[in-house]
Amino acid sequence: MARVVCPGSFDPVTNGHLDIIGRAAGLHDEVIVAVLINITKKTLFTVDERVEMLGEVTRGYGNVRVERFHGLTVDFCVANGVNMIVKGLRAVSDFEYEMQMAQMNYRLAKIETMFMTTNPQYSFLSSSLVKEVAKYGGDVSGLVPEPVLGRLHTRLAVSLPGE
Ligand code: PNS
Repeated sequence: MARVVCPGSFDPVTNGHLDIIGRAAGLHDEVIVAVLINITKKTLFTVDERVEMLGEVTRGYGNVRVERFHGLTVDFCVANGVNMIVKGLRAVSDFEYEMQMAQMNYRLAKIETMFMTTNPQYSFLSSSLVKEVAKYGGDVSGLVPEPVLGRLHTRLAVSLPGE
């Protein structure tokens, strides 16, 4: 069985992520979306919230499941019988760091990385930009799935007065 891992922070999942996950699901038997638990990084959404949102927006894919992990991505891959990571590449600026990670992951555990070019519709899109634009009231509809849009509005409406 060809099982792959799509790792990331997904804070929050964007339509760019979802495009890659969906295309990976069409190419492989099973896709595990692995959400990194990183207690040192300040995130807008908790891991539980990020996993829940991903679960909702990938529900339509019978071969996608969402898990959380901490530590090395390659250790998660090995523990789950996976030998390939799938990542999206938006622009040349992504390439250098992604290549370093891919080479390190291969060196650590012989885990391959498959890069998929992001749909040009989403080549400028990142979770950080979405959060920044939404924080200042900009329109991010069409850039994140509907359930994420709702949660973004609720979270930022609550956090704005305290800033
Ligand atoms: O969505 P992100 O934050 O760009 O995803 C980065 C992620 C989670 C894929 C990367 O930071 C990662 O794999 N972290 C886990 C720790 C690890 O394996 N580090 C070594 C990478 S070579």
